[in-house]
Amino acid sequence: MRLDRYLANMGQGSRQEVRALLKKGQVTLNGQVIKKAGQAVAENDQVAIAGQPLVFVPYVYYLLNKPAGVLTATTDQTQPTVLGLLAPTLPHYRELAPVGRLDRDTTGLLLITNDGQLAHRLLQPKYHVTKRYLATVAGLVQPELSDILAKGVKLSDFTTQPARLEILAVDTEKKQSTVALTIAEGKYHQVKRMLMAFDHPVLQLQRQSFGPLSLPEDLASGAYRELTAAELVALRASAAETRH
Ligand code: URA
Repeated sequence: MRLDRYLANMGQGSRQEVRALLKKGQVTLNGQVIKKAGQAVAENDQVAIAGQPLVFVPYVYYLLNKPAGVLTATTDQTQPTVLGLLAPTLPHYRELAPVGRLDRDTTGLLLITNDGQLAHRLLQPKYHVTKRYLATVAGLVQPELSDILAKGVKLSDFTTQPARLEILAVDTEKKQSTVALTIAEGKYHQVKRMLMAFDHPVLQLQRQSFGPLSLPEDLASGAYRELTAAELVALRASAAETRH
């Protein structure tokens, strides 16, 4: 990898900023001052800035509280994307991608990482990574719906796997209900379609958990933080090859 890219990937600034660092002679590669932005660097090379060694971190994992009105995409010509909420100076910024997708109007927990292998596994149906959604729906949800969804529902193009529905509140005046729906798959518009199939259009949808990760209560809408070591261990275990 080019040295300027390596430094930018390590969160040392934009390509332009790291080139300025190089020009100033602040960067050493295995003890030698290097000014050439295109110098090749390998993962086990020793890179230091102003004498401070950099530790190469290959993968980064962020938990974002996605706000409504933002696309789950890396770039878009016209609309704001979740990547736009992250600081471009983060390590590996240009390699980051969301794991799965939430609709534009859905809020809540979204994992963003450059660990493509783990992301791929987390999305594979065979690992049954569960996702819990909090939904405000139109209409008064009847208790029987829990049993129906627990058995799986036939939609126009597939039958859903068993899902767990908890009825949290039923507001007879507003004719709305609040439910939590936990599903182990992630088809396009799945939660909205499952509830719509029973005449309960979703008015608001928030993802509260993804596998072992829960949306932290103190994480403001639009804010993000790195996964903790414990969260990462649990996440990896949830999609470990040895489980199935
Ligand atoms: N199901 C939906 O319908 N929308 C989402 O954003 C996520 C799950």
